[in-house]
Amino acid sequence: MAITPSGEGATTPQWTSRFAFLMAAIGSAVGLGNLWRFPFMTGQYGGSAFVIVYLICVVLVAYPIMMSELALGRHKGLSAIESISELAKDAGKSKNWGVVGIIGVICSGLVLSTYSPVAGQVMAYATMSYMGEFAGRAASEAATVAPLYNGALPAILWHTLFMVMTIAIVAQGLHGGIERIVTILMPIFFFLLAGVAIYALVTGAGAKAVDYLFTPRFDEITTSSVLAALGQAFFSLSLGSAIMITYGSFLSREESIPANAAVIAGSDTLVAIIAGLMIFPVVFAFGLDPAAGMGLIFNALPAVFSGMPAGSFIGGTFFVLAFVAAITSAISLLIVPAVALENYTSLSKTASAIVVGIIVWAVGALSILVKDTGGWLDFFSGSVLLPLGGLLVAILAGWVAPSAAMRAELPHASDRMFAFWRFVVRYPAPLAVGVILILGLDDKFGWGVNAWINSLTG
Ligand code: TRP
Repeated sequence: MAITPSGEGATTPQWTSRFAFLMAAIGSAVGLGNLWRFPFMTGQYGGSAFVIVYLICVVLVAYPIMMSELALGRHKGLSAIESISELAKDAGKSKNWGVVGIIGVICSGLVLSTYSPVAGQVMAYATMSYMGEFAGRAASEAATVAPLYNGALPAILWHTLFMVMTIAIVAQGLHGGIERIVTILMPIFFFLLAGVAIYALVTGAGAKAVDYLFTPRFDEITTSSVLAALGQAFFSLSLGSAIMITYGSFLSREESIPANAAVIAGSDTLVAIIAGLMIFPVVFAFGLDPAAGMGLIFNALPAVFSGMPAGSFIGGTFFVLAFVAAITSAISLLIVPAVALENYTSLSKTASAIVVGIIVWAVGALSILVKDTGGWLDFFSGSVLLPLGGLLVAILAGWVAPSAAMRAELPHASDRMFAFWRFVVRYPAPLAVGVILILGLDDKFGWGVNAWINSLTG
């Protein structure tokens, strides 16, 4: 595919090929959200009750919003903030809609500051697995016997290492940095993923895991599982934080947004399901508690794998997979604030990446040192800013942007499909996301909305 500067967006760089775009976007979407967050949340919310709601959320809400973000970004082809404010201005609306971009900038930075410490832990566990540190240990011991990860100092050092790598890639720009890395790493990722998944299914309790994940148990669906599932869909598909707006701004006019978004959302969902099929067979084979929470993969897997044939090697490879997924997501989280800084100051691309990276690093280090900071950051970015960003994107694509402007970005959709998409982003999507936002806040501050709903549903 040729590099076609898209008129107004001629100053912005373009993806060199569809492959490069897809690897970058799938690389952004597939991350710790799939390999770490999806399994532990599935375990906490009872397995299939969560998985089924999650799949519905992806198809009906997240996919249309992903199309919206890509279309909104490509329309003007500028930085996320400018693309949106220019689009609103053209439509005779307030330029203040650019606030969507600002929310995205803040949100990406905050998500990265809590993401990087977890990615650091993944790196530490990969190293320890390969070194055989977990070999022959009981599952209950793995968390306590992690010599390279005891105390705050090692956690900060691993976090630092991860941030340095992320900054180094983003500082080299779209073509020399991001595209070069993702086109190498993502194919390796899928290759390793297939290998580890087959191993886990063959050696672990595969049938039990399949039943746990897919046999419908509708009575177990609760408001909190719906809440968690939609939030997870946003997180996993990198929505609500201007990333897909930014990636859309680099996208050629010839590319079909509905088709590419389907590939991205489909791959991301597939990886989450495969991660579940990798982790739950081992969890059940060793009688572990699927509802163990955030520590699920760190506490259970190292020791569990070490009890299996070639376990240290496979366990290490699982964490390498998680690391590869994490770094290709982290670069997308850093590029949004970096592009904004580059646009609004005289700083160079490299300097912008470094400055933003240092701020994110400092907030991440703080979250390691000061108890509870991480939880609050996670809440504020994941439960407030992400849904807020998603809500505004839906309103922008459904109400603010003229129908003709959006139609011009979605020429590959049939008339019916376009009408359906426009309907979804006008009514059900903002409604669902708005409700999520309120319920998420209520969950934290206890206004009593959740309790009221539960009393209605008995
Ligand atoms: N989607 C990534 C994951 O699943 C994380 C991520 C990248 C993200 N960009 C994002 C999360 C933007 C929220 C917003 O791990």
